[in-house]
Order: sequence, then C-alpha cells, then structure tokens
Amino acid sequence: MQNTKTFTGYDTVIDLSDDDAEITHVGRGTPCGEYLRRYWQPIYLEDQLDDLPKLIKVLGEELVLFRDKSGDTGLLHKHCAHRGASLEYGIIADHGLVCCYHGWNFAVDGSLIKAGSEPENSPIHKKVVQGAYPTHEFGGIIFAYLGPTESIPAFPVFDTLEDKNLERIPFVVTTHCNWLQVFENTQDPIHVLHLHARSSGVQFGVASGVDQIIDYENTPLGMINVQTRQVEDHVWVRTTETILPNMNQGGAIWEEAESEKFFQRSAFTRWMVPVDNFETMTIGWRIFSKELDPRDQGDRKKIGVEAIDFVGQTKDERGYEESQRYPGDYEAQVSQRPIAIHKMENPAMSDRGVMKVRRLLRNQIRALKGKQEPSQYIQNGRGTISTYQQDTVVRAVLDEENKQSYSKALVKHILNSKDETEEKRRVDLELHCRELLSKLN
Ligand code: FES
Ligand SMILES: [Fe+2]
Repeated sequence: MQNTKTFTGYDTVIDLSDDDAEITHVGRGTPCGEYLRRYWQPIYLEDQLDDLPKLIKVLGEELVLFRDKSGDTGLLHKHCAHRGASLEYGIIADHGLVCCYHGWNFAVDGSLIKAGSEPENSPIHKKVVQGAYPTHEFGGIIFAYLGPTESIPAFPVFDTLEDKNLERIPFVVTTHCNWLQVFENTQDPIHVLHLHARSSGVQFGVASGVDQIIDYENTPLGMINVQTRQVEDHVWVRTTETILPNMNQGGAIWEEAESEKFFQRSAFTRWMVPVDNFETMTIGWRIFSKELDPRDQGDRKKIGVEAIDFVGQTKDERGYEESQRYPGDYEAQVSQRPIAIHKMENPAMSDRGVMKVRRLLRNQIRALKGKQEPSQYIQNGRGTISTYQQDTVVRAVLDEENKQSYSKALVKHILNSKDETEEKRRVDLELHCRELLSKLN
C-alpha cells in the first residue's frame, strides 16, 4: 500500500477563474487590447490575398480584408453599415468594395462612395461610414493599425530588415492559445535546453543543448536574454530579443558555434498577434543567408501559410502520437490551457525572463490606462529602428567567471552602439571582443 498521506490530488484546488485579463485579454476596450492597438500589427501575407475579400479576425475583431481593382488594400468592419450583411460576400470594385445585399460601395477608408440605388444626391452618402482601418504593405506582409487615429505611429522599419541582400520569406502560423504564452516563450531560454534538446531529442542545433549562463537586460525597445555557452573551443553569446508590445527576433536556428562570427543578425523577425483571447498568429519573416544557415538546413519551400521549416510549430504537421513522443513549442504552449492561469504557477529562478516580460507589459498597459500613451520606437539616423538581437562566436576557452564578465561587457557594447551602422556595429564589436579576451586571458 502506498503512503496515501503524501497524495494531494484532492487537496490541490484548481481555480481557473482568474486568467490575468490585464495582460491576456485583447478585445477592444480591454487594457491589453488597447495597448496592442497602439502599434502597427502584421495581419496577413500579401500572397494570401486574391480576388476575393477575406474574413479575418484580429484582436478579437471580425474584419474583411480585400484589395480593390486599383490595387489599394482595405480593411473594413465585417458587417455592412447599411443593414449588417457580411462584407466577405462583397464584390471587389475599381475603388473599394460593394456589399452584395443592396450594392453599397465603400472606399478603403470606409467612406460611402455610392449607396446602391439611393439617389446620387442623397444625404446618406455623407452620413454613413463603414468602420475601416489603415493598412500598410511591407516585405510581402500586410500590416494594419487598429487604434485611435490620433495616436497612429510612423510605420516602423527595424534595422534587421535593412540589408537588401538577405532573403526574407514571409510566414504565418497559428497557435491555439492565448498570445502571451507564445510571446513570453521567447524569454524562456531554458526551455530550449529541455524541450528542444532533451525531451524531444535535438530539434535545433546540437550546441543549443550545451549548458549556458543566462542573463536578462533591458533595451530601449523591451528586453533581451543573453545566453552564453562554451561550445568546445568557442564561446557563443546569443541575444534573443523581445520588442514591445509583441515582437521577437532570434538568431540562426541551427547555430553550431563552430566558427567565429560577430553581430550576426536575425534568422526570424516576427510578431505574435492575437487573433482573439484563445488564438495567436505568429507572423513575420524567416531570413536566409549563407552565414545564417551554413549547412543549408533551412527549407525555403516549407515556409508560408501555416508552414515553417522547423519542427513543432503548427497543429497539423504531425500526428498526436508523434507529437507526444517529440513535443515542440506548439504542444508545450497550447497545453498550458487556452489561457495559462498565472496564479496557479510556481515560478522559479529560470522563469526570470518570463516574469520580466509580463512586468514590462503590465507597466506599459497600466501607464496607458492612466492616459499615458505608450512609448513609440525612435528612429536612428538611417530612418530605421536599431535592435539588439545578435550572435557572436569567438575562439576562446573561458572559465565561468570570465564567461560572465565577457558576455556582460559584450552586451553593454551592443547596447551602446545602437546609433552606428550595421557594419560599424559588427566591426567595432569584433575589435571590442578581441580586446576583452586579451584582458581576460
Ligand atoms: S446590408 Fe449592405 S448594402 Fe444593405
Ligand atoms: Fe521553443
């Protein structure tokens, strides 16, 4: 007979009533929903848009996206302002969209161009507008701004998207849980060691399974985690970046830290955009170059709509049994419940990054609730936004203490170099690293 006193199933109270709505709920009028609405959000791939209007959901709002015959993109409220028919059944016009029911023609800004059979001079044309949001296309992705127009920010272009020689392939994948689970995962570096190197075998580079020193730093845009590993005779410092409110950049997926590199930038730049409280689109670009994928392990053909070239990111890529044997991010995140219940968690030392992300978000959300508009991105001299994600690998063998001080000094240098060009940041960082190492050795 087992010692039954140690079993606590009955005594462990499951309370799902508080789902930390302040930072998880995204609808119009919710604190987090209003915060996310202060930024441009990617919503659809250009390639997905054909000659039919698309019914989509973003931040809990049902919307109709279309491209009219003049090439303009429109994003309108789903239900027609006349008597509510869905504009997903509308007819694409030279300008705007015509509702199928009584032929009202709305422009991409929602103004009423023609009210079907109503007389041309009817005052209805001035009176009625369809809810509409501004859109912007960049790099094969359609972005929208769903916030108040008086707060609309300039469209941000990040420095990792500057280099015209890199190949950027747009993708979108859906995770069936609250957006925060998907977002905060990127500041949970210890899961890479467990989920992606031990639990499921090596899913990414072998080097990612090597023990690491983990640190977290604030940046002007949010935060980075700093992972420092001794991989044989190389020291590898990876920074993975969270850009508020819902963006993330990460380095080469199959980095093996076998050769020296300095300030190597993103292999993906992506946003975690809530569809609603229970579903999330991860949408952005997979980025390719010889340096980012020296062994040619990426697969461009596997990237697009509900498709990405690394394992465990989507619902239907594998059967249930295989996903049990080799779970990936999708399984781990979705199984935390539709909305993870923060009050029932037992956070530990290694959750510092996740706790920090939540804290940063909460601060911004509360500030906005107090009528303080959230900080927007500040452009560097080149008109882009400087970011802080990178990988640096040097040939060196360092003890724990030296590894710690080396990575701290390296990160400080990266933070301080934000106003320089990409090339200068890279060259200076190499010089700086070599100087640091000569002092440490
Ligand atoms: S409901 Fe759309 S035109 Fe009448
Ligand atoms: Fe992961």
